[in-house]
This record gives sequence, C-alpha cells and structure tokens, in this order.
Amino acid sequence: MTPPAPRRGRPGTAGSGQGRGGSGQGRGGRGQGRDDGSRGTGGRPGRARSERGGSGTTKPSQPTKAPQWPSRPTIDVHDPDGVRLQKLLAAAGVGSRRVCEQLIVDGRVEVDGQVVRELGVRINAGQVVHVDGVRVQLDESRVYLAFNKPLGVVTSMNDELGRIDIGDFVANRKERLFHVGRLDADTEGLLILTNDGELAHRLQHPRYGVLKTYLAQIPGPVPRDLGKRLRAGVELDDGPASVDSFRVVDSQPGKALVEVILHEGRKHIVRRLLAEVGHPVLSLVRTHVGPIRLGETKPGKWRALTSAEVGELYKAADL
Ligand code: URA
Repeated sequence: MTPPAPRRGRPGTAGSGQGRGGSGQGRGGRGQGRDDGSRGTGGRPGRARSERGGSGTTKPSQPTKAPQWPSRPTIDVHDPDGVRLQKLLAAAGVGSRRVCEQLIVDGRVEVDGQVVRELGVRINAGQVVHVDGVRVQLDESRVYLAFNKPLGVVTSMNDELGRIDIGDFVANRKERLFHVGRLDADTEGLLILTNDGELAHRLQHPRYGVLKTYLAQIPGPVPRDLGKRLRAGVELDDGPASVDSFRVVDSQPGKALVEVILHEGRKHIVRRLLAEVGHPVLSLVRTHVGPIRLGETKPGKWRALTSAEVGELYKAADL
C-alpha cells in the first residue's frame, strides 16, 4: 500500500497548524511561534496604517483589507517509517481504531503540538501525542504501576542491608523500575513505580506542585485552628513547611483521622509537621499521588495504571 503523501510544508492541512478552534496551539502553544495579536501594537499593522494615512490615498471611511500574515510555520510530524496514528492510539487504549480515526478527523489529536486531521499519518512511538490536550503514552516499553507499599517494607528497589524492599514485590517484572519518591518503612500506601524518568522526576519535584494525599491517625482532640496553622506554615529544622489542605475526617475520644495534602517531598514531612503542632502521627497512609488513587489495591499488590490515568499524571506534571 502506498502511504498517503505527507503534508510537508502544505499549509492548511493536517500537520499545518490549523487546529482546534483554528488556533493550532497545543497546551501552552508548544511547537508554535506566536503570530497573532501579539504583533498588533508597535508592529507592522500600525506602521502600515500610518504609512497609508500619510500618503493621503485612503479615506478614513474606506474599508481596508485585513493584513495578510504569513501562514504558521509547519511542523512535519509524518514519519514514513512509523505506524499509522490511529493504530498507535488504539494500541494505547484510547479507543477502537474507528473511534481513534474519528478523533483525528475531528481535530482532537495533536502530534508534537501539531493538530493532525488526516488519516494515514504515520508517526513513531517517541513522538508526543495529546488527545483533547491529554498526553497519550504510545511507547509500550513504558510502565506505570500503582503499588500499595505495606508497613515495614523499605522504599528501595534493592536494599543494601537485605531488608524486604519494593524490588521483592516486582521481581518478576523485566523492566528496570524505580519508585517515585519515598515512603517511610512505617508508612503504607501508594507508591508509583515506573521506568519513565522524566515523569518520575516531575512528580517528585515540588516545583511542579503535584499533590500527595495522606491519611494520618493523630492524638485528639484536634483544635479548630490546626488546619489554619498548618496551611500558614510552621518552622521545621530544615526550614518552613506548610500543607496545601488539611481536614479532620473522623474524630473519636482521644484520637482523630486527618487528611493532609501537600506537594512537599522532604523526608518525614507529614510526621514532622504534625509533631511540630503537637499531634505526633500514630499511623500514616498515602492515598493519592496527584490524580492517582490507591483505591482497592491491597498492601503488597500493584496494578498497571490505565492509559487515561497515565494521561492525567502527565497533565498533573505539566507534560
Ligand atoms: N511524610 C512522612 O512523614 N512519611 C512518609 O512516608 C511520607 C510523607
């Protein structure tokens, strides 16, 4: 079969930047230079108008022709040695081949920041694809697992002291996985395991603000202003720290279950914060990393994230 001619350099077709709403912009306009209103003042339009006005040949009431801007720079996303886009999308779990074709035709699929509307474009799995602005990971060698770390297990893939670690629970997996962040040995709950280095880095780095949610048992009663104090920030040995959100989930005589959400990654951060305000943690579970829920996964078990969950993680990490 002859592949469709790639649309190299042909403005106005798939791969030409005529995208959703005609903007051709991916999230944040990746891969596109601005060529819209940002040139409107102090640029060529103003000069053109004043030049015309200066010549005295155009009456103010006469309609003037809108300036013709050069078409957007075209990024050629077609890789003749690649695989058809709809096939890769379907393989990634976005939907049936037919559904994926419709998504393309509807202009909802971007490759490397470029809306692709034509069927038959071939790409390779290393290219960056978004559907409705959500990243779709096409590279089947990438693995994303939600692991429920049990109490007493060390957050390491290969503990030097020979203690039970995470590596023991994924020993049958061939990929070289690493854990996204750490949980204390006496914390249980959600740990993302992956071989996607860039995503892992961003999920951990406070700069990207990915929220982690914890449930902590603490001695009660909890004073009414505790959330306010924690949100305002408290001083720890290694500098100030604050939470993004705090709420009391359950309160019983002498103890309380509280939810703490923060994007901090410092060691023992939840324990240290709560100890500092007089409520040392009795037990701690991480329930969410960004949009990913621990859900029903039992301690010591893992599940593969769905492609929608991976897309959400990418979004949370601003990728
Ligand atoms: N904060 C802690 O104190 N412990 C953890 O395991 C994770 C966050």
